[in-house]
Amino acid sequence: MTMRVIDSLPAMLEYSRQLRLQKLRIGLVPTMGYLHEGHLSLIRLTKKNSDRVVVSIFVNPSQFAPGEDFEKYPRDFEHDLTLCQQEGVDVIFYPAAVEMYRSDHTTYVISDSLAAKLCGVSRPTHFKGVATVVAKLFNIVQPDVAIFGQKDAQQSLIIRRMVVDLNFAVQIIVAPIIRQQDGLTMSSRNKYLTPAPRQAALVLYQSLQKAEQLIRQGETHAATIQRTMMTMIQGVPDVRLDYLATVDFDTLEPVQKIKSNTLIAIAAYLGTTRLIDNVLII
Ligand code: PAJ
Repeated sequence: MTMRVIDSLPAMLEYSRQLRLQKLRIGLVPTMGYLHEGHLSLIRLTKKNSDRVVVSIFVNPSQFAPGEDFEKYPRDFEHDLTLCQQEGVDVIFYPAAVEMYRSDHTTYVISDSLAAKLCGVSRPTHFKGVATVVAKLFNIVQPDVAIFGQKDAQQSLIIRRMVVDLNFAVQIIVAPIIRQQDGLTMSSRNKYLTPAPRQAALVLYQSLQKAEQLIRQGETHAATIQRTMMTMIQGVPDVRLDYLATVDFDTLEPVQKIKSNTLIAIAAYLGTTRLIDNVLII
């Protein structure tokens, strides 16, 4: 079957309506394009969980604050097209910004207690944009299942909660983090990194691995684990930590004692590039 690119909202709605009439299960992978192995792992998981796979590619302006990297966010639609074709994607949904957001757009989805924490401290409007665009995508694509990555842990939690709180009839699956061989999380923003900061960035995952090792050895004090991680990170001058947090992965409230469902999350700047990483203690 040949892959379709749909760029109009009514055409996407109609396509989904037809599939639903045929009782076919629609899987959606929301992305901002510039696809890499992390995205492809989500696509493969979606294939296993649905009859038709829709990948949306939309660099969502509402989740970027003024001064962030919206304009320079990497884009390569032709390459994305080739990768999606190779993965057997059925539809790329590729809407234009003017179609997604009318000039008089005024309604947003806000996660009261979760959006202001962790990344929300330095990006206070970010998750409002994310939740809003994902709600719009759910309404336009009408998926039965949608897949998100644990790499963006706070995002995946906010979407899971949105679906429960607003009664979306969508199953949410969260897929594990895909890393480069040396441990760096795959991210479209890695393109911004020249070799030196890329090398420096490895300390983020190394500090998370160290935390896991300490926990395996029986350490439960979050403060002790954070101190060890801090020492490692501060030893690499090119890394400017935004936050390091040990939180409950339902509430994002800090935990003093590590227990199951504790998220250890980091955000750091390498020059002007902001990277995030995390591990979930299960
Ligand atoms: P984007 O950064 O393109 O990521 C799309 C999806 O891929 C997200 O669910 C993200 O968590 C997942 N992903 C990215 N890198 C990954 C990795 N290394 N391993 C596993 N999964 C990974 O996240 C967004 O786009 C946007 O905020 C979006 C949800 C599309 C809303 O605009």
